Amino acid sequence: MSKNYYITTPIYYPSAKPHMGHAYSSIVVDFFARFKKIEGYKVFFLTGTDEHGLKIQRAAEKNKKKPLEFCDQISKTFKELSKTLNLSNNDFIRTTEKRHQKSVQNLWNVLEKKGEIYLSKYSGWYSVSDEAFYLDNEIETVEGIKVAKSSGSSVEWLEEESYFFKLSKWQNKLLDLYEKNSNFILPKSRKNEVVSFVKSGLKDLSVSRKSFSWGIKVPSNNDHVIYVWLDALTNYISALNYPNENDELYKNFWPADIHIIGKDILRFHAIYWPAFLLAANIEPPKRVYGHGWILSGEEKMSKSKGNILDPLDIIQKYGLDPLRYYLLKEVSFGNDGNISKEKLENCINSDLANNYGNLCQRVTAFCEKNTDLKVPQKDKFNDEDLKILNKYNSNFENLIKYTDTQNINQYINFILDQLFAANKYFNDQEPWKKKSDIKRLNTIVYVSLELIRKITIMLYPIMPNTTLKVLKIFGMKESDIDFNSITNNEYLLVDKKINKLEILFKKIDINND
Ligand code: ME8
Ligand code: MG
Repeated sequence: MSKNYYITTPIYYPSAKPHMGHAYSSIVVDFFARFKKIEGYKVFFLTGTDEHGLKIQRAAEKNKKKPLEFCDQISKTFKELSKTLNLSNNDFIRTTEKRHQKSVQNLWNVLEKKGEIYLSKYSGWYSVSDEAFYLDNEIETVEGIKVAKSSGSSVEWLEEESYFFKLSKWQNKLLDLYEKNSNFILPKSRKNEVVSFVKSGLKDLSVSRKSFSWGIKVPSNNDHVIYVWLDALTNYISALNYPNENDELYKNFWPADIHIIGKDILRFHAIYWPAFLLAANIEPPKRVYGHGWILSGEEKMSKSKGNILDPLDIIQKYGLDPLRYYLLKEVSFGNDGNISKEKLENCINSDLANNYGNLCQRVTAFCEKNTDLKVPQKDKFNDEDLKILNKYNSNFENLIKYTDTQNINQYINFILDQLFAANKYFNDQEPWKKKSDIKRLNTIVYVSLELIRKITIMLYPIMPNTTLKVLKIFGMKESDIDFNSITNNEYLLVDKKINKLEILFKKIDINND
C-alpha cells in the first residue's frame, strides 16, 4: 500500500474575507493531515483561493478595484488565516497563478481534442453567487425574486454562445464509479442525493462564458473564458504540476485520497469533476466528503447573508486550540452544527480545563513534589495498570479506522473516555497516600505519565500547539510523534527529567463574563 496521502480543502472565493465556515473546513482537513502524518504517511495538504468568474469580477467592481488587485488583497487574508489556524498545508494555490492557468488550458485542450467539448448556445438560469447553472425545476420564486431552491441565491436568465462539455455521455460511467467505489461520496446520505440526481438524467454542461472576460481564456477561441468551476476544480491537479505526469508530486499524490468540501458544492465535486477527469482519461479522486454547514441561528453562515462569526475574534478571545477542539468535537461531522460562545465556553471549562488540563497539571505537580521532577523507576504493573494502559492496544485499529472513515466524533469520544478514565485512575490509586510504599507510588506516577503521553499524541491532530507544550515536558518535539507509540506502555525513560508545565487552559468565569 502506498504511504502517500493527498487531502484538500475547497479553494475559497476571495469575494470577502474568510469566516468561520472556511475556518471549519480548513481545520477539519488539518486534523486529518496531521493524523496521517503521525500515522507514518507522506502527506500533501492543499488549500487556496478561487479567483476567477463573474462573482469575483463584480465584487471587485463594487470595491472599485481591478479584479487581480482585489484578489491579491483578499487572497492574502485567506493565506494569513491558514497561518493563524496553524494549518500544516504544503501549498496554497491561487487560480490566477501562471502554473494553474497553464494546467487548465492543457486540460481544456485534451478535452477538446478528445471531442468532449462542442460549441453551441446556452439559455437558462444562472446564479452568479453560486457560479452555477440551474434547471427550471431547481428554481422558485420568493418575494417576486427567482432563486435557486438549494442555496436561496438569486438567479438571472442567461443566453449566449457557449462551449459545452458532453456531461450526458458520462452518466453511466459516473454511476459505475459510485457503485464500484462505494465510499466515493461520503457521508452516505449525500451519496444517495447525488446518485438520484445523476439517474434522473444529466444534461451537457456549459463550460465557457462570452459576456465577461475575468477568467482563463479558451485556448482556441479567445472570445470565451473557461467556466470558473472547470477552472477551479483543476487546482487539485495543477498544484501537482499536471500535465507533467512524470512530476514527483503528480506521481506520488494523484489521485487524491480525499477532497473535503461543504455539502453546498457536492455536485461540482462528485459529478462534474470526476466526469471531466474520466473524459480526459485521468483517474478520479478516491473520495469526496461533503460536510455540513456551520449555522448561525437557523441559517447557513455565509458572506452573502452577512451573518458571519469572525474566527479571528474568537481566536483572540479564547485561543486557537480551544476553537479547533470545539469545532471538531461539537459539530457532528457530516451534519450541520450550530455554534455559540456559551457552548464554546462550556467546552473549554469541562473538556479542556477540568479534564485534559487538570490531568496534566496535577500529575506533573505531583512529580514535582514526589519524584524530583523525573520519570520514576517503576515496579511491575498490576492488573489495574495494565487494564488502563492496554486500552490503546485493543483500540489502535479502531482509531485508525475512525479517521479513515472520517469519523471525527468517535475519535474524540474515545479520547474523552480515556481522559475520564485517566483522571479516575489517578484519583482511585491515591498516590498521595502511598508515601510508605514508594515503589507503588512511583508505578502509579509512571502509568499516569504514560497515559498523558498517549492521550496527548491522540490530541495532537486536534490541538497541535497545546499538545506540543505537553510533549515538551518529556523532551519530545513534533518530529518525535509517532502514533504507533500509543501502544507502547514503557516509552518513557526512567530518570528522564520532566519539564515544568505552564497552565494550558484558563477556566472561564461564565457568570461574570
Ligand atoms: O464554493 N459552514 O468557495 P466558497 C461550513 N470557490 N462550511 C462552510 C460554510 C459554512 N457556513 N461556508 C463556507 C466555493 N464553508 C468555491 C469552491 S473548490 C474547487 C471551489 C466552506 O468561498 C465549505 O467547505 O463559497 C464550503 O464548501 C466552502 O467553504 C465554500 O467556500
Ligand atoms: Mg459559497
